[in-house]
Amino acid sequence: MNERSLRDGLATTWLGRTMFYADSVDSTNLWAARSSGTNPQVEGAVFVAARQTRGRGSGGSRWYSDDTDGLWFSIVLREPVRVQPLSFLPGVALVDLLRQEIGVDAHLKWPNDVLVGDRKLAGILVESQQQSDASTAWIVGIGLNVNQVAFPPELADTAVSLRLLTGRPFRRQSLLQRLLQQIERIYRTDVDVVQLWRTRTRMIGARVRATRRGVPSWVHVVGVNDAGHLQVIAADGSQQTWVSSTDLDLGREFGE
Ligand code: BTN
Repeated sequence: MNERSLRDGLATTWLGRTMFYADSVDSTNLWAARSSGTNPQVEGAVFVAARQTRGRGSGGSRWYSDDTDGLWFSIVLREPVRVQPLSFLPGVALVDLLRQEIGVDAHLKWPNDVLVGDRKLAGILVESQQQSDASTAWIVGIGLNVNQVAFPPELADTAVSLRLLTGRPFRRQSLLQRLLQQIERIYRTDVDVVQLWRTRTRMIGARVRATRRGVPSWVHVVGVNDAGHLQVIAADGSQQTWVSSTDLDLGREFGE
């Protein structure tokens, strides 16, 4: 991969037309944020790294990406953001790519995970950044496990890669180009990304193991509201709306 090869064959109109590549960075999200300097970010700029030494996961966790087996990149989007919630967009696009072009039956786990079976194939981290002109840029980080044949012990039971799923290696460059095309296709003012999200998850109607503020219980997922918040019936029968996953750990188990 390099900047030129990433641009060659890219079929998008605007997304990734500004493309940066590095063999190694701390985190593509941090790199994208740093790169703004005194110039506001370019809409649709994409930052790709072959490996990350300090990949960032959701909730302040680390994202294992200190190898060149995955696809690690970040997209910059400027206000006004056309799709809400923005964090749903990459997952929907990735599930479409996996199902339509690769034959992998992926599905979404609230809020932002892409799973195959009960294993995590990809994660998404959206962060905002104040620009020098007082506007906001959104940095959409996507990590997709591609060619890993094994994971570190702490991930061995929960993570999966495309290679492990299909038995063959993939070109990360081609995956990136096709994923950017899917994202650009969906990123339109009139798209109801929540509805797209709902039709690509198995959670709605399922019983799910959830740990909230350290307390585990089974909850029944009723739906996702138009703002993208998770609606559940808790173990005590109360209806609850969960806004973010910061104090919530949805277990891997789906009940019957
Ligand atoms: C999660 O915890 O599920 C979110 C993981 C997001 C990982 C991606 S890899 C590219 C981008 N840069 C980062 O440091 N994190 C995101």
